[in-house]
Amino acid sequence: MVANLVYSQEQAHAPYGGVVPELAARAHLEKLPALVRDALSHQGVRGEDVDLIAVTRGPGLAGCLVVGVGLAQGLASAWRRPVVGVNHLWGHVYAALLAQQDLEPPLLALVVSGAHSDLVRMTAHGEFQVVGRTRDDAAGEAFDKAARTLGLGYPGGPAIDREARRGDPSNQPLPVPSLPGLAYSFSGLKTALLYRVRDLGGLERLAPQTRADLAAAFERSVVESLVRKLDHALEEWPVAEVVVCGGVAANSLLRSRAQEVLNDRARLTIPPLALCTDNAAMIAAAGSHVSPGGELRADPALGW
Ligand code: KG4
Ligand code: ZN
Repeated sequence: MVANLVYSQEQAHAPYGGVVPELAARAHLEKLPALVRDALSHQGVRGEDVDLIAVTRGPGLAGCLVVGVGLAQGLASAWRRPVVGVNHLWGHVYAALLAQQDLEPPLLALVVSGAHSDLVRMTAHGEFQVVGRTRDDAAGEAFDKAARTLGLGYPGGPAIDREARRGDPSNQPLPVPSLPGLAYSFSGLKTALLYRVRDLGGLERLAPQTRADLAAAFERSVVESLVRKLDHALEEWPVAEVVVCGGVAANSLLRSRAQEVLNDRARLTIPPLALCTDNAAMIAAAGSHVSPGGELRADPALGW
């Protein structure tokens, strides 16, 4: 990897408690060209040295995608290089291949981000089959909403992670969602947390330790649900390589529980934190495996 620069918009969205699509698109417009320039100049790379331009084509916020694709097409025509559109979720899986040099499909992946909680079989490069997914909220979305309920601010996932380290999940146990098969559901758990906080007298009355206990309980329920289905999927489709990826894969409990649950049945790869949350390197890695038109095999109904 030559360069992997991220411009974080967290501060811009924090006052609103979540991502504001209009602000996000504007920030892409304002920051993206300079970021590309920096990535090249830091390493003394010129446009002509680039073989291929990979850009996220979706799923994602339309305004941001339009800016990215527009810039990529502009660069492609200026540098006379090809451009490929990459599925964002493929990118998360390829982050693991970037992190583990000898990792190759077939593999089973748990892709957990702000908008997706998918169990996916990757049978070959560019071949993905979704075998389980969430019926309502994604795991990341659930963490973000729980953080708001607990007054922990935005971004919620890392805040819950930090708070949970000080808490004991057994003091305020919450249910572990359990739908049949490989389907996830997190909206009931979110409501259970909301009611618990209300029953405890509301956010203003929550003792700091209780808040930490609730964060730990919420985190445990989400993580147990995620790893149980991962376990079931591996039983159904035994395979030597398992990947846990996407922004939520940065979660410390998920990282350790996934390893415990898999034990030595398969090798587990979880990308380092910087490659779990959204980044450009994972899109480049996926793009290098996308043959022209190859990504058209993706199933649009499932976002893959
Ligand atoms: O993949 P990602 O960076 O962006 C999307 O494609 O959505 O994932 C962002 C999600 C957010 O919901 C964020 O709260 C969650 O990942 N996240 C975490 C942690 N770090 C980020 N969730 C739990 N624990 C974390 N440490
Ligand atoms: Zn993502």
